[in-house]
Amino acid sequence: MTQDELKQAVAEAAIEHILPMLQADTIVGVGTGSTANLFIDELAKHKHRFDGTVASSEASAQRLKGHGIPVYSLNAVNEVRVYIDGADESDHHLNLIKGGGAALTREKIVAACSDLFVCIADESKLVDVLGAFPLPIEVIPMARGHVARELVKLGGTPVYRANVITDNGNQILDVHNLDILDPVALEQSINNIVGVVTNGLFAARPADVLLLGTKDGIKTLE
Ligand code: 5RP
Repeated sequence: MTQDELKQAVAEAAIEHILPMLQADTIVGVGTGSTANLFIDELAKHKHRFDGTVASSEASAQRLKGHGIPVYSLNAVNEVRVYIDGADESDHHLNLIKGGGAALTREKIVAACSDLFVCIADESKLVDVLGAFPLPIEVIPMARGHVARELVKLGGTPVYRANVITDNGNQILDVHNLDILDPVALEQSINNIVGVVTNGLFAARPADVLLLGTKDGIKTLE
């Protein structure tokens, strides 16, 4: 199977996983990226079974609305029953690197507010140690140089992602050459750098479930 076929299979598996949670008042959190897009297209087939969604990016909100699925402001809902999103990397403890699509801040906010976080990914995303994928950091533009110098002190090699402005009006640094042996500690350390909005480590709040599309079928890690 191709990577796209694995993503499609895992998007369909995500629907099976959340179907029992869908009720008339259910709000579904929806992530960002190519895997999340496939999930949105599958979710549209069940749009009359639940109330609506909150989206982690303008792009996902547009795709949801295009299917006629209601999109609420996070501030307008009391509970997000389940959040479905992809990842750039996951370790076996379901700590993630996210933000390849520059949506990490809103993704982290929606994940933090959700009762259950279901990550969906093809098998290429599962790693023993996080960090081969450069760690995205959203920064306030005027602080970019300062944050980059502090990241070098942590052992990383930050690279400015040119021509990308996040939905929040900020910029992205991608940090190469990090061996992330303690994701919780590194997430905290990077968040303490003045000028950092969010970093792409999801370790303080990892995924609860990882649905992994493999050539041998869907694997569920919890
Ligand atoms: C966007 C993300 C995505 O979840 C991540 O980049 C994975 O994307 P894809 O499903 O296209 O491989 O974090 O900010």
